[in-house]
Amino acid sequence: MLWQEPVKTAINCGQEDFMSKLGIKAPAPIGLADIAELAVHSAQMMSQIRSAMLAPTTRKAAPIWNLSQLAQLLGIEKGSLTHRMGRGDLPGGTLNQVGNRREFTLAEVRCWMREYRRESLRPAGAEAVTISIANFKGGVGKTTTAVTLAQGLSLMGHRVLVIDTDPQGSLTTLFGILPDTEVEEEHTILPLVMGAETSIRYAIRPTYWDGIDLVPAAPLLFGAEFALPARQTQEPGFQFWNVLNYGIDDVRSDYDVIVIDTPPALSYTTINALLASNGLIMPLPPGTLDFASAAQFWTLFSDLTTQLLSNRGHDKQFDFMNILLSRVDSSDATGAIVKQWIQSTYAKRVSVLPMEIPKSAVTAAATVEFGTVYDITRYEGHARTFKRARDAYDLMVSYIETSVQSVWRRQIEAAATQEPSLERGERAQGPGRPEHPAPSAGSPSDGVLNRSTLSQAVPARGSVEAGKAVKAVKAGKTEKGVD
Ligand SMILES: Nc1ncnc2c1ncn2[C@@H]1O[C@H](COP(=O)(O)OP(=O)(O)OP(=O)(O)O)[C@@H](O)[C@H]1O
Ligand SMILES: [Mg+2]
Repeated sequence: MLWQEPVKTAINCGQEDFMSKLGIKAPAPIGLADIAELAVHSAQMMSQIRSAMLAPTTRKAAPIWNLSQLAQLLGIEKGSLTHRMGRGDLPGGTLNQVGNRREFTLAEVRCWMREYRRESLRPAGAEAVTISIANFKGGVGKTTTAVTLAQGLSLMGHRVLVIDTDPQGSLTTLFGILPDTEVEEEHTILPLVMGAETSIRYAIRPTYWDGIDLVPAAPLLFGAEFALPARQTQEPGFQFWNVLNYGIDDVRSDYDVIVIDTPPALSYTTINALLASNGLIMPLPPGTLDFASAAQFWTLFSDLTTQLLSNRGHDKQFDFMNILLSRVDSSDATGAIVKQWIQSTYAKRVSVLPMEIPKSAVTAAATVEFGTVYDITRYEGHARTFKRARDAYDLMVSYIETSVQSVWRRQIEAAATQEPSLERGERAQGPGRPEHPAPSAGSPSDGVLNRSTLSQAVPARGSVEAGKAVKAVKAGKTEKGVD
C-alpha cells in the first residue's frame, strides 16, 4: 500500500493557515449594529419577495372557479347547475374576457355552497366551535393545518375567524400580510392580553378570502409572555389562562368556527388558546423526535391544567381532540413504525384522524407563493400529486366539519335541557367563570403558577407592571427587575 501524506485539516494545521489555503476569510466580528442592519435588510427582502410572488398586485387574490369546478364542488352535474342558474336567484358568475367561459368568484361559490349545504350549516341556537391547532414542536404543520382548515371550511359555506397567536406571524403571512411591517400592536390580541380591551372584536379584519376574518400576529406579541404573568401577580383574581376565552365570547355567535394557530411552545398564549377551545388538533409527523415531543406536550399540559384548574376545583372538557398525521413521507421506512406507536398511544379519547397529510411538493410550492393547496389554481407538477395532496386536506376538512356539527348539536341539546356546565359562556371553561371578562375579585394567590413546571415552557417573569415590561420588550431592552 502506498504511503499517503496525512490530509491536513483545521485540527492538524493551524485554523488560519487551513482557511487561507482554502481561500476562506476568517469571520469578522459581528456587532449589534450589524444585527440591526440585518433585521432591516431581511424585512425589506421579505417585502420584495412578497411583491414578486403576488405580482401584479401586492395583495393576495382568491382563486376563481369555472362552471365544471363549481358543479364538482356542489356535487351535482354541470347540466343541473346551469338549469338551477336559470332561476336567477343565485349568482350567475361572469363571462371571461374572451367570452367563452363563465367564472365564479369565491364569494359567489360560497353563496352556492351555502344554498346547497343548508342542512350542514350552523343551526340557530348554536355558536362558533373554537379549534386550536397546537404542538410545541416547531415545523410540524400547525400553520398549514390552521389555514387549510379555515379555507376548506369556508369553501363549504362556513364563516370562519382565524386568530394568529404566534409572534412569528406565519399564518398572518399566508394571508399576504407582513407581520414585521404591516401589523401594529392594536391589530393583534395584545391589547386584550394587556387588559386595554375585553372583546377581541377590535382586532378582527376581513381577508382576501371571502368567509375568513383574521386577527393577525406580529413579533411584538412576544410581549404577551411578559404581560400575562405580570398581570397575574398584580390583579387579584386575574386568570391569565382565560383572557382569550373571555375575549372571544363577544364574537362566538358571529362565526361558525374559530381557528386558532399557536406558537411552537406551551406558552402563556398557547394555554389561552387551548382553554378557549372546544377542540384541539395536533399535527404530528410520524418521526421519533416528533412522537417524543408530543408525549412531553401532554405531560406539561396535564401539569399546567392540574395547577390552574383541577387544584382550584374547576374542570375543562374538550369536545374533541385529534392527532393529524402530517408531513407523512411515504419513502421514510421508520415512519411506519412511528405510525404504529402513534396509533396505539392515541387510541382512546384523543384519536388519530383517519387520513394522512402527505409530505408534498404541492404544499411546499404553495407556501413559496404565500398560500396553501386551496390557493393553487394551476399546479405546474403532476396532476396526480396535486390531487393526492388536495384530497388529503379535503378529507381532513370534511372530518373536522362532522366534529363541529356534533358540537353544535350538543350545544343545542344542552341549551334545551339547560345543562349548567354547557350554558353559554361556560362550555369553554367549566365552572368558576366570572360574569364579565374583566378580572374578578378573588384571593391574591389565585392563579400563581408553580414556577418549576411553567419555567420549562415559558419565561418566569412577573414582578413588573405589565405595560412597562411590554414596552421594554418592544424597545429591545431588559429593564432592571424584569428578569
Ligand atoms: N404536508 C406538507 N408537505 C410539505 N411541506 C409541508 C407540509 N406541511 C407543511 N409543510 C412545510 O413545512 C414548513 C412548516 O410548516 P408550518 O409553518 O405549517 O409548520 P408549523 O408547525 O406551523 O411551524 P412553527 O412551529 O414554526 O409555527 C412550511 O414551509 C410548510 O410549507
Ligand atoms: Mg406555525
